[in-house]
Amino acid sequence: MLKPCLKDAKIRTDKPITFKEYTIYDKYKNLGQGKKYFIRTYGCQMNEHDSENIKAILEDMAFTETDEMENADLILLNTCAIRENAHNKVFGMIGRIKHLKESKPGIVAGICGCMAQEEVVVDEILNKYSWLNLVFGTHNIAELPVLLANVYDGQKQIEVYSIEGDVIENMPAKRDSKYKAWVNIMYGCDKFCTYCIVPYTRGKQRSRKIKEIIKEINELKEKGYQEVTLLGQNVNAYGKDLNEEYDMSDLLEAAAETGIPRVRFITSHPWDFTDKMIEVIKKYPNIMPYIHLPLQSGSNRILKLMGRRYTKESYLELFNKLKTIPNVAITTDIIVGFPGETEEDFKETLDVVNTCKYDSAFTFIFSAREGTPAAKMEDNTSLEEKEKRLYKLNDLINKYAKEANDKYLDKEVLVLLEGKSNKDECLMGYTETMKLVNVKADPKHLGQIVKVKITDVKTWSLDGVII
Ligand code: SAH
Ligand code: SF4
Ligand code: F3S
Repeated sequence: MLKPCLKDAKIRTDKPITFKEYTIYDKYKNLGQGKKYFIRTYGCQMNEHDSENIKAILEDMAFTETDEMENADLILLNTCAIRENAHNKVFGMIGRIKHLKESKPGIVAGICGCMAQEEVVVDEILNKYSWLNLVFGTHNIAELPVLLANVYDGQKQIEVYSIEGDVIENMPAKRDSKYKAWVNIMYGCDKFCTYCIVPYTRGKQRSRKIKEIIKEINELKEKGYQEVTLLGQNVNAYGKDLNEEYDMSDLLEAAAETGIPRVRFITSHPWDFTDKMIEVIKKYPNIMPYIHLPLQSGSNRILKLMGRRYTKESYLELFNKLKTIPNVAITTDIIVGFPGETEEDFKETLDVVNTCKYDSAFTFIFSAREGTPAAKMEDNTSLEEKEKRLYKLNDLINKYAKEANDKYLDKEVLVLLEGKSNKDECLMGYTETMKLVNVKADPKHLGQIVKVKITDVKTWSLDGVII
């Protein structure tokens, strides 16, 4: 048994990253014969992509997927630790699995992902949910075949490494979409914003080599994929940890040069956004004019307490530069109720929102995460007050989201049709600027980038017809 250790997870050294290759031994390849797996994914795109890797590994072992938990022989929860409510949802689900396991004791159940990397969570599991068969973390997904073989041998497996991490190449993926794909360009995070748990759950920042990333994009293109999203917690810092001669602007350029129709990237930390990146985005029509630029707070005092390493002024300067990208859409993340946030600080956040008029935003109430510096900061604001601030902020965000969408009425846009819409006889997809559009279209257009005329506008989506 190896439990996660918060103290170890905080450590960063100069030790070079080890690049490894995923392999699966023949002896594990039939382990899942006749067995079905069910996986539920929480959290960000990184976790979604990890689940795509996990699914492919399970299928390498001859398991087949089911989307009904009740039919599964193996249940995995790929968890997120970012806020308390993500945590609570997982424990709710563990309760349901317990119930199921009482009637079908042969079920194997496990948790993985960011919560599995938390010392407090694993302690709670050991105390209260010791019937769980398997706990593994974000660093040892590639070891899943061995862990499962041990579980089927009757050994409970709790194996979580609190390490800086390696880069594992050659990971298989069972992708959710046939048209758009996530591509990891880096793992981990070294920014240590004071509220955030990610640097502890995902380890040190480690970039993949450019040639591996481009190889993956070329393979996706050959398979007919229309879009790739380059993934990382701070994609702008790509390459800084490698002893090589390239950075994010070079990677973006190389990705665009593959000729894949659409290249996206998330998330951009305002700190590392270079002018060269902006030039490359402007140069290539297949780099999408959509940027997610988390603000977190508009108050310099709070930004400093958050450890964000930029000021409201430098954020706005960057924002204005980004606005020179033709037709660009910019979205953001904002936290309200950070410890010590006053009404005045909050007003400054509203001021920035009024200046930037974001296309949309994800807004959150601060959630104290055990082990992070902010969890120990004095916090005198009531939850009721924080909720009031959130509603006020959301009203403003919604107003600007609608205004941004209104500009699309009667306009022609390019949409990658990626799935069935909830609306009758419609497909759904996204514009280059990441606007959700419901399009009246025959399913034969699935997977195509089509020209659409916008016929109606709502706060969170657009309607249109193919022209
Ligand atoms: N790497 C990205 C953010 C990843 S987490 C970046 O730095 O921009 C996604 C969002 O969750 C963050 O932008 C932040 O707004 C929010 N978040 C992270 N930790 C949080 C916490 N403890 N409480 C509330 N929101 C949080
Ligand atoms: Fe968390 Fe900050 Fe890293 Fe983003 S940059 S993942 S908010 S520590
Ligand atoms: Fe959640 Fe981990 Fe992503 S904490 S937001 S799943 S990196």
